[in-house]
Amino acid sequence: MMKVSIIGTGRMGKALIEAAAPQIQNVIWGSRSIEKVDGLIKELGSEALPGSYDQALAADVIFHTLWFRDLLPWAKHNEEALKGKILVDICVPFTSDFSDLAIEWGTSAAEEIQQALPDTKVVGAFKNTFWKVFNQPVHQGIKSDVFVTSDDEGAKEMVMKLLQPLPFRFLDAGTLKNNRTIERMTLFSRELSQRYGHYPYVSWGLWGSDYKGLFSE
Ligand SMILES: NC(=O)c1ccc[n+]([C@@H]2O[C@H](COP(=O)([O-])OP(=O)(O)OC[C@H]3O[C@@H](n4cnc5c(N)ncnc54)[C@H](OP(=O)(O)O)[C@@H]3O)[C@@H](O)[C@H]2O)c1
Repeated sequence: MMKVSIIGTGRMGKALIEAAAPQIQNVIWGSRSIEKVDGLIKELGSEALPGSYDQALAADVIFHTLWFRDLLPWAKHNEEALKGKILVDICVPFTSDFSDLAIEWGTSAAEEIQQALPDTKVVGAFKNTFWKVFNQPVHQGIKSDVFVTSDDEGAKEMVMKLLQPLPFRFLDAGTLKNNRTIERMTLFSRELSQRYGHYPYVSWGLWGSDYKGLFSE
């Protein structure tokens, strides 16, 4: 059976574990502090299994929730352990004041991490999904869209299948290059939702097609 882990116990780590653990068996929740993750699992009544980062790295599909500043050093340090694995990248490379992205136009966090880890299959997902959306991913009957990207079609398909039971609509969003747009969409939706007073409850939904799964049943 495919092993899945989620690394990090911050806002997105918690949100992902609450959504994934009831749907995916034996998810390992990795933290730098076993005491912290142990306590959180008890507090949330979660079915996740507590682990260290090293234990989480033993999974086949690893979701990381690190900030961009920590991501590349962590990836380089664990390049060997990540070889042959699928790494799901949710990172939006914000500047420290959140006014812009910390990387140039013409690249993305997902592409940078793929370049740093040539023997790992990077899959981008949840980059537009602010943590509050996990509490209510269906708004007025319409599911929040999650854009899934990868340069490896098989890895993308596997992650989309794995995530299918979660209450979002998962769209095949093409290759990693599309994260140049997707990551900037998060910057833009952050600004708009702050202006209109509903930040951080903001996500994207592509309409215009009758693609199955847009509306919640
Ligand atoms: N917040 C959102 O709504 C949102 C939406 C979409 C994407 N994202 C992306 O998701 C990632 C995480 O966002 P977040 O809001 O969940 O952040 P957060 O609450 O600050 O959590 C980040 C986690 O990273 C882990 N970590 C590993 N090395 C670290 C270090 N050196 N310093 C601090 N923490 C370290 C920590 O988990 P342990 O202590 O357990 O090790 C920490 O809880 C970012 O890349 C962000 O762009 C966030």
